[in-house]
Amino acid sequence: MVDLPQPFLVLAPMQDVTDLAFMRTLMQCGGGPDLYVTEYFRVHGDSSLEKPILASVLENPTGKPVIAQMIGQDVDALVRTATELLGYEEVSGVDLNLGCPAPIVCSKNAGGGLLRRLGQVDEILGRLREACGERWFTVKTRLGFESPSEFQALLDIFAKHDLDMLSIHGRTVRERYQTPVHPDEIRSAVDLLECPVVANGNVVNVTTGLRYLEKTRAAGLMIGRGAIRNPWLFAQLREALGAGGPSEPVTRRQLLGYIRILWEETARTRQQWGRDYSALKHVQRMKRYLNYIVQGLEDELEFRMKRSRTQDELFSLLADFLDCEDPVPDLPSERSKLFCGFSALLSEKSTDEHALRSPAFKGMN
Ligand SMILES: Cc1cc2nc3c(=O)[nH]c(=O)nc-3n(C[C@H](O)[C@H](O)[C@H](O)COP(=O)(O)O)c2cc1C
Repeated sequence: MVDLPQPFLVLAPMQDVTDLAFMRTLMQCGGGPDLYVTEYFRVHGDSSLEKPILASVLENPTGKPVIAQMIGQDVDALVRTATELLGYEEVSGVDLNLGCPAPIVCSKNAGGGLLRRLGQVDEILGRLREACGERWFTVKTRLGFESPSEFQALLDIFAKHDLDMLSIHGRTVRERYQTPVHPDEIRSAVDLLECPVVANGNVVNVTTGLRYLEKTRAAGLMIGRGAIRNPWLFAQLREALGAGGPSEPVTRRQLLGYIRILWEETARTRQQWGRDYSALKHVQRMKRYLNYIVQGLEDELEFRMKRSRTQDELFSLLADFLDCEDPVPDLPSERSKLFCGFSALLSEKSTDEHALRSPAFKGMN
């Protein structure tokens, strides 16, 4: 991972969200992250590469590296798929998903379900490392299935396989998305492993990002939901980590501009793929993103957004609330199920932001 800045910023893979349209949108809203990871390719005995996901790599206009993520538990199928993916020079590397908590995935012993079968994880990592050769082979994991106490045994396996990067969503599978994260476990991975370790989970603004880096000493941050809500978060963090100083708050009008770009890009991608497109259905699809974007804004906006049906109705509502220069609140509401748990990162002792910029910190990884 030689060409990445320290610390580096990664877009978290999110199924049905981090597609080509979203990546194009991020590029237009502050430049996006330093590294992308695709939503997962489903891998099994008969699987083939899903073309829209592949397009998010092959047609990616960002100029940044893109890693292709796979989910599955059939080792031969995973090796076949990794080899096929690496046949494309645009694919910077492949990543294995060891974190998805969806019951349907875990019941097949894939994603987070694999964390109950360490012998199988060991075998898969060994075979994939071999298949990837000099190309990047990375893993995205949770801390364990039931309890963070499982993490040490997992780390011992990761340490055997010369990973190029380990991204850690600092929760167990059981903890899904709502709890605080466990920075100490990530710190133990940073201390043990030679590869860059990336901290993931609950970064919603610059301060939560800086605190997470301080607590974990990770080589980078991976951000998912926080980047849907605020696509400029990568640029703001870069500023805080580099030149320093507070970044300009995002204005409501900028947020409205982001939503318009996202509308256009998602519509364009859908039409490009010859998929059924109608503005009415598109309103419903946009709510997948808008549910995150409105967090921290007025409850009435969320309430009416969820009920809007036509493009005109949606955009006139958004204009009523967003077409002004007022700043967007820095934090989402912790009452929201979509973002709860992040205040544990904020409430602990204050971050010495200067330490983060010191050469000692930069040299740590
Ligand atoms: C809608 C959604 C879809 C997701 N899809 C994936 C996925 O395809 N692969 C994966 O490794 N993680 C997936 N995740 C988990 C995220 O990558 C990330 O680990 C999690 O959201 C915590 O980070 P955050 O607090 O920055 O959002 C998904 C999360 C969400 C909310």
